[in-house]
Amino acid sequence: MCGIIGYTGPRKTAKILLEGLRRLEYRGYDSAGIAVGRENAEPRLEIIKSVGKIVELAKKMPEDIDGSWGIGHTRWATHGGVTEANAHPHTDMSGKIVVVHNGIIENHKTLRTMLGKKGVVFKSETDTEVIPHLIASYYEGDLLKAVLAALQHLEGTYGIACIHANEPGRIVGARNGSPLIVGVGNDEMFLASDITAMVAYTNRVIYLNDGEVVDITRDSYTITDRHSNMLDKQVDEITWELGAIEKSGFMHYMEKEIFEQPDSIARAMSGRIDEENATAKLGGLNLSRRQLADVHRVRIIAAGTSWHAGMTGSYLLEQAARIPAQAELASELRYRNPVVENDSLWFVVSQSGETADSLYAMREVQRKGATVLGICNVVGSTIARESDGGVYVHSGPEIAVASTKAFTSQLTAFYLFTLLMARMRDMSREEGQKFTRSLLAVPEMVRDALAQRDHIQAIAKKYCRAKDFLYLGRGILYPIALEGALKLKEISYIHAEGYSAGEMKHGPIALISPEVPSVFLVSDDYLHEKTISNIREIKARGGPIIAVGVEGDTEAMALADDFIAVPKADPRFYPFSMVVPLQLFAYFCALELGRDVDQPRNLAKSVTVE
Ligand code: AGP
Repeated sequence: MCGIIGYTGPRKTAKILLEGLRRLEYRGYDSAGIAVGRENAEPRLEIIKSVGKIVELAKKMPEDIDGSWGIGHTRWATHGGVTEANAHPHTDMSGKIVVVHNGIIENHKTLRTMLGKKGVVFKSETDTEVIPHLIASYYEGDLLKAVLAALQHLEGTYGIACIHANEPGRIVGARNGSPLIVGVGNDEMFLASDITAMVAYTNRVIYLNDGEVVDITRDSYTITDRHSNMLDKQVDEITWELGAIEKSGFMHYMEKEIFEQPDSIARAMSGRIDEENATAKLGGLNLSRRQLADVHRVRIIAAGTSWHAGMTGSYLLEQAARIPAQAELASELRYRNPVVENDSLWFVVSQSGETADSLYAMREVQRKGATVLGICNVVGSTIARESDGGVYVHSGPEIAVASTKAFTSQLTAFYLFTLLMARMRDMSREEGQKFTRSLLAVPEMVRDALAQRDHIQAIAKKYCRAKDFLYLGRGILYPIALEGALKLKEISYIHAEGYSAGEMKHGPIALISPEVPSVFLVSDDYLHEKTISNIREIKARGGPIIAVGVEGDTEAMALADDFIAVPKADPRFYPFSMVVPLQLFAYFCALELGRDVDQPRNLAKSVTVE
């Protein structure tokens, strides 16, 4: 979704803004723009906007553009088409007040009418443009005061950065529902919607909360609430460095992130396994043993890939810890008026920690008294801060729109939580040790799966021209089938459906033909024979079969047109080793079809609007 960067300091501002916008590209956008201020005798702002990629914006920048403060934005269209006029920054009528905005101003129509009556002429179709005009109507020489007054009229969500030509070096920002982070440097300051935009320059950050307003100059910052009450905020240090957001020799971020998984999974479990007692240690849950023992049901809120992780977690929790568990689609749950039982523990799973559907669903169940634990990747994100406790998965920054390493780290969090709960219930120490050994072996399993890279690439070449795919699995591999289908459709644009293999005969089997390949996930557990029968049903109707199965499974190998083997393991752990070939398959199909793998069309990395 949209991205914001602001800078004030001695460096070349235009360069910093452009570089920040490049770092924000992964979030998804369709146009971009910057405003740079010069402190001449007559201070002025230079505004450059462009539709399309940042390179297009860069081409439009005058050679001599420079200044000492400014703001930039990548826009993902919501109100109004993808045009230069709709791209941010937006200005008031004088052109002196300049604003970039993430989020949606819900009452923009009313405000447009009100401002229109006062003679304001609008230049864009955006909801954002009401903001600079509103600020202008209150401006009497102090930008902060005018912004605070304007905010009283805004309904909806926003992360805003605002500058005034007559106030050199000053940036005012405000947050309500859309992330905004202050970067504290030496004699320079940053404001951004995402740490990646400024990590090259500072690792000292302040996370703004909803309702907070920041006023920065190159050597100072003040943070207040919307009623001008001063707030004393903590400066956090981020621990990862620039290298974590670079491609490090890989062609795409997605490829890099797929191959990082042995390490990211190991990080997610690091320090969290008590081998002696065969259990897990999850300090961040903020729940006593007594409270955990009173949990009789687990409910999981998430969207997209995180929902698939939650669903896998729900199968595991039921199977291994004997706790009824259910994964809920955040976008559905919120509007269902959900029942919140006293003995339920809720999780919200989110890589970004900013997904609007998940955040609002979490708040809704919290309002009804639920205790909600977060499983998040982005440290300091809104969900991480507003949840009642939780687990950081420590995947490191995930830049590609298609989530891969965050998924396997989210799975790791559920496996740890399951171990903890199972050991408090029926699981014996011996069983716990077996489970623990399997968990510790996951990075190696994933490494083995990654070693199939070339084989999977060859299979992708063979099938990538197909128009439709089915992904089929049973039991704990059913959510993995859903995840495989999602990966393929989002980055290759090939239509793919994930189904429970057992559900085929209830309708989807009508789709089978020699043109529609089926990707089967074949475990060697109690569902093996059932899955093999499902493969036969497809085979009998002429459907090509790609099977991801366990090495030595001669039956599946004989039936499949193409077979991808994963090492034999405790079947509960196949979600890890079997999702990896599906990630690689999607990646290579997209590559073969010449898609923009890291920034697929119409998609954004973190979906901060409903
Ligand atoms: C994953 O590949 C997707 N791009 C998407 O489904 C994503 O998982 C979903 O939007 C949820 O995001 P979150 O984990 O940041 O909440």
